[in-house]
Amino acid sequence: MPLVIRKRCLALLAILLATLACQEEHSLLPEGVPVDVPPGFPPLPVPEDNPLTPERIELGRHLFYDPEALSPNGTIACASCHRQERAFSDALMLSIGIHGRKHWRSTLPLANVAYAPHLLWDGSFASIEQDVLATLAAPTALGWPDTATFADRLRQLPHYREAFRRAFNAEPSAALAAKAIASFVRTILSASSPYDRFQRGDTTALTPQQRHGLQLFFRVGCAECHRPPLFTDYQFHCNGLLAHYWEPGRSAVTGRPADFARFRTPSLRNVGLTAPYLHDGSLGTLREVLQRYNSGGYPIAAKDPRIRPLRLSNEDLAALEAFLHSLTDSSLLHNPRYSRP
Ligand code: HEC
Ligand code: HEC
Repeated sequence: MPLVIRKRCLALLAILLATLACQEEHSLLPEGVPVDVPPGFPPLPVPEDNPLTPERIELGRHLFYDPEALSPNGTIACASCHRQERAFSDALMLSIGIHGRKHWRSTLPLANVAYAPHLLWDGSFASIEQDVLATLAAPTALGWPDTATFADRLRQLPHYREAFRRAFNAEPSAALAAKAIASFVRTILSASSPYDRFQRGDTTALTPQQRHGLQLFFRVGCAECHRPPLFTDYQFHCNGLLAHYWEPGRSAVTGRPADFARFRTPSLRNVGLTAPYLHDGSLGTLREVLQRYNSGGYPIAAKDPRIRPLRLSNEDLAALEAFLHSLTDSSLLHNPRYSRP
C-alpha cells in the first residue's frame, strides 16, 4: 500500500513539474518585453525564430504606421486599414489599398492575432510574418513590385538603418521588416472589456440586460464557435447568413468542395467597433447579423447544422446585442504601446 501511494505521489509530482515546466517555456517572456498576457488567456505563442524583444517591437510599430517606408508612393501603411480607434480594423465594407484598389474582403481587426493558428478569413497563412510579406507585395494592399525594391527604400531612410541594427544587428531587408512588424502585431492584446471585468468577479460590470444576453449567447450555441476567452474557435464554418457566396472561402485553400463558403470564425471581441460585418462586409449592423441568425440563415448546402431558427424575441435580440457591446475594450483604443509613434 505505501508503495502504491508513493508511486501515485511521484506520478502527481511528475505531472505537476511537467505542467510548471510547460508553463515556463511558453508564458515567461524575456525581461523588459512590454507585453502583459491577460489573466485567463493562454500563454502567448511566439515563434522560435523570432523572439520578442523591445527593439523589434518598437521598430515594428514605427513601420506599421509609416507610409513613406511601407508603400512605393508613400501613401499607405498598415495603419491606413488597421486603425487603432476601430480596434485595428476600418469602417469600410471592402478594404482599399494603394491607388484606390479594392480588396474583395473586409479588413480584419488585429487584437489577439498572436493566438490565431492560421490567418485571414480563409486561413491561408500560417504566420503573421508570412502575412506581412504577402501584404507588402499584394496589388490590393501595399503594392511593392518585389522585396528588393522595398528593402532599398528602407536602406535610404537613415533612421531605419540604425533601428534595424539595434533590433537585428543587420541591414534592413524585407524578411527582417516582416519579423519586426509581426513582433509588434503579436503584442496587441485585448482583454479589458466590461465582460472581462465581470469574469474577474466585478458583478456590476455588466448590466442586467447584458447578463441576460451572456446567458443567451451560451444557450443558443453562439459560444460553440465564438468560444471564450478569445471568442473564436479558429475553425472554418459556413454560417449561411448570405443568400449567395461569391467567393469560395476556405475551399480556395484546401481545394475541397466541402469547404465552399466556409470562413474562419471571427473573434467577437470589440465587434461593436468593427462594422460592417462578415468576410465581405455586407451586413452593416450587429442587429442585421443577429436577425439573420435568428431566422436560421439561408438554406444553402454548406451551412453548419447548428445554425437554425432561434425564435428569439426582440427583447432577447436586444440583450444579445447589448452583450456583444460588453466585449468592447476601450483601453485598446488608447493604449500608447500600440499608438502611432
Ligand atoms: C489595404 C488595406 C490593408 C493594408 C494596407 C493592410 N492590411 Fe492587413 N488586412 C487587410 C484585409 C482586407 C485583411 C483580410 C484579408 C483576407 O482575409 O483575405 C487583413 C488581414 C490582416 C491580418 C490577419 C488577421 C487575422 O485575424 O487573421 C493581419 C495579421 C494583418 N492584416 C496585418 C497587417 C499588417 C501588419 C499590415 C502592414 C504591413 C497590413 N495588414 C496592411 C487589409 C489591409
Ligand atoms: C457554426 C459556427 C458559428 C455559430 C454557432 C455562430 N457563429 Fe457567428 N460567425 C461564424 C462565422 C464562420 C462567421 C463569419 C462568416 C462570414 O464571414 O461569412 C461569423 C460571424 C459572426 C459575426 C460577424 C463578425 C464580424 O466581425 O464580421 C457576428 C456578430 C456573429 N457571428 C455573432 C454570432 C452570434 C450572436 C451567434 C449566436 C446566435 C453566432 N455568431 C453563432 C460562426 C458561427
